[in-house]
Amino acid sequence: MPANARQIVLVRRPAGAARAGDFAIREVPLAAPGEGEVLVRNLWLSLDPYMRLFMAETGSIHGSVPLGEAMPGGAVGEVIASASEAMPVGALVVSMAHGWRDHYLARADQLQAVNREAGPAQRWLGLYGLTGITAWGGIHGVLKPEPGETLFVNAAAGAVGSVAVQLAKRAGARVIASAGSDAKCAWLRELGTDHVVNYRTEDLGARLAELAPEGLAAAFDNVGGEQLEILIDAAAPQGRIALCGAIALYDSANYRAGPRNLFATIEKHVTLTGFNAGFYFPRAPEIIADLAAAEAEGALVETETVVEGLAAAPQGFVDLMEGRSRGKMLVRV
Ligand SMILES: NC(=O)c1ccc[n+]([C@@H]2O[C@H](COP(=O)([O-])OP(=O)(O)OC[C@H]3O[C@@H](n4cnc5c(N)ncnc54)[C@H](OP(=O)(O)O)[C@@H]3O)[C@@H](O)[C@H]2O)c1
Repeated sequence: MPANARQIVLVRRPAGAARAGDFAIREVPLAAPGEGEVLVRNLWLSLDPYMRLFMAETGSIHGSVPLGEAMPGGAVGEVIASASEAMPVGALVVSMAHGWRDHYLARADQLQAVNREAGPAQRWLGLYGLTGITAWGGIHGVLKPEPGETLFVNAAAGAVGSVAVQLAKRAGARVIASAGSDAKCAWLRELGTDHVVNYRTEDLGARLAELAPEGLAAAFDNVGGEQLEILIDAAAPQGRIALCGAIALYDSANYRAGPRNLFATIEKHVTLTGFNAGFYFPRAPEIIADLAAAEAEGALVETETVVEGLAAAPQGFVDLMEGRSRGKMLVRV
């Protein structure tokens, strides 16, 4: 058993975009597990945009991390010492709280034991975890595309976006996707996207008007802010927009700010549905079975960007927010 755990702590609240210097690495002593507890060695850590919200002074439903405290987040690891009959040494476990560290002690009943045979361990953070369940919830829980409908996804080369694109194609939609580089757009074409837009070099609103003159029947919004306003303007009468996230606003003082053209949803009878993956986790077995089926059919590929080592996690987070990852961003501990 290691004597110490290494953790990434928040040492400075980011002003605007997070920087690697907003974090530091520290060692804390590890105790042996008490009754009902397990000691876990993390194998993989998840990096997610919502973590930016923890870093603000006045947080969100996600709370605010006190300065000097370890960052929370998702992780998958294995039990290396156990005082819990339910969770023996060797169990593969997921925690939504104990990311950004190499080892931790926790009550076994706070953790989820997962199947080692289901594929690579990190899949429980990606396709079978928050990423896959979010994409499935937005496509099949909210948008429910009909074959032939035009569906748009932004931040489409990211973790959630790239799964959403593929699920929408599998459902028979005509998919338009946007991303922030030509290389990402080329990859989205390889995934089967019908039309791609590089929002950094092209005018997204003008391109959507060309590609979908009848309007967007459905849109999966990962970005918020000005892109959400563009999607409201581009929506077809009775269009549906799934509000997944607002990464464009996470560095700002008010990430909850609404679109300035909300009235257009009245004029066009457009439905905006915010959704939270937490509401789909109770259906995880059914959703994971469907994602596995999609993969087995060849309709879904999972892509990862891997950062090596705990110490590289802060820069990995910066890279995620600045668009330097493709697919799911992970840290191999
Ligand atoms: N509702 C839920 O339960 C739930 C669950 C998970 C995630 N989410 C949300 O889903 C979204 C995607 O999350 P993810 O984990 O899949 O991350 P991700 O898409 O893998 O990474 C974020 C991507 O956002 C793009 N981006 C960053 N700033 C942008 C800006 N100002 N304008 C446009 N694009 C920008 C970047 O791609 P480009 O290179 O294309 O700019 C970057 O790669 C986030 O908003 C996240 O908070 C919601």
